[in-house]
Amino acid sequence: MNKLAQSWFNASYQRMLQGPVAHWLETLPAQLAHWAKHDLHGEFDKWCRLVAKLPSTTPSETDLINQVRIGKEGDISDYERKQIEGLLRQFMPWRKGPFYIHGIHLDTEWRSDWKWERVLPHISPLANRQVLDVGCGSGYHMWRMLGENAHSVYGIDPSQLFLIQFQAIKHFYASEAIHFLPVGIEQMPALQAFDTVFSMGVLYHRKDPLLFLTQLRDQLRKGGELVLETLVVDGDEHTVLMAGERYAQMRNVWFLPSVEALKRWLSRLGFINIVVADINVTTVKEQRTTPWMTSQSLADFLNPEDNTKTIEGYPAPQRAVIVATKR
Ligand SMILES: C[S@@+](CC[C@H](N)C(=O)[O-])C[C@H]1O[C@@H](n2cnc3c(N)ncnc32)[C@H](O)[C@@H]1O
Repeated sequence: MNKLAQSWFNASYQRMLQGPVAHWLETLPAQLAHWAKHDLHGEFDKWCRLVAKLPSTTPSETDLINQVRIGKEGDISDYERKQIEGLLRQFMPWRKGPFYIHGIHLDTEWRSDWKWERVLPHISPLANRQVLDVGCGSGYHMWRMLGENAHSVYGIDPSQLFLIQFQAIKHFYASEAIHFLPVGIEQMPALQAFDTVFSMGVLYHRKDPLLFLTQLRDQLRKGGELVLETLVVDGDEHTVLMAGERYAQMRNVWFLPSVEALKRWLSRLGFINIVVADINVTTVKEQRTTPWMTSQSLADFLNPEDNTKTIEGYPAPQRAVIVATKR
């Protein structure tokens, strides 16, 4: 493994040692060593070299509460600004954000801040909690969790480009409390240790959604909180849509339950206090092509004559946020 990546993971291990998730260390270092030997993306070492080229800066102020805003424009020279922007562009496409780094606006495909605004009012305060974000993407919401004073925030996601994007942002705000591990949920031991587990935008990508919910449950301590966000369809507790080859052009979509069906799944798996916090139809303002993600986006995936349908004829994306407690 290259030295930079090793230093990222060593810092994560140090953090884990101090807290209730220390058991993770029984499996994680060997998994990441194996990952570095056998699963590295062809560009990974190049991306790491580019991260290492990001200039060191001293952010005069940081806001993680209202946005992810690190540093001000005046903290850096014009030359540094061009250098940072050029390097960050090497990590395109940027899907989850936005980020503001010393005044550089990374206008991502998703307004992930809008999702956070729908979620935050409905969850237990994160202050001092051990938090896991499963399928964390670039880590956008992890920064917002840190802004809410979580004790430690761990994100897992198998995407190596997302790992690099996360580390590129962390370069500018080197908090010891926030860590990204490039593993899938199925690789985690049942830690039963986190106070809050988030999983947003992942359930429909899992071939076995009930196993996935069980894996999320197994990361929570007794009484811990699950915050689940996923695509849903209208219908009663018997309604679950299984997508064909593609849903809104995505190939890896499996099950879209109704909210009632999802509630039943959660209750059968031992969750209580199941609350539907929000239901929202995704708009082309929330997911769109931008200068930082230049390929097709939601507007291209909807039926041009009827925006309530995807181009495959399924109901257009509608998302629910559900909060539940582990019994
Ligand atoms: C649609 S994105 C959601 C990102 C972010 N949570 C959000 O709400 O914007 C789904 C993410 O799940 C990740 N993912 C897919 N399979 C996973 C697995 N087995 N374990 C953890 N994450 C996974 C993907 O790499 C991807 O980044």
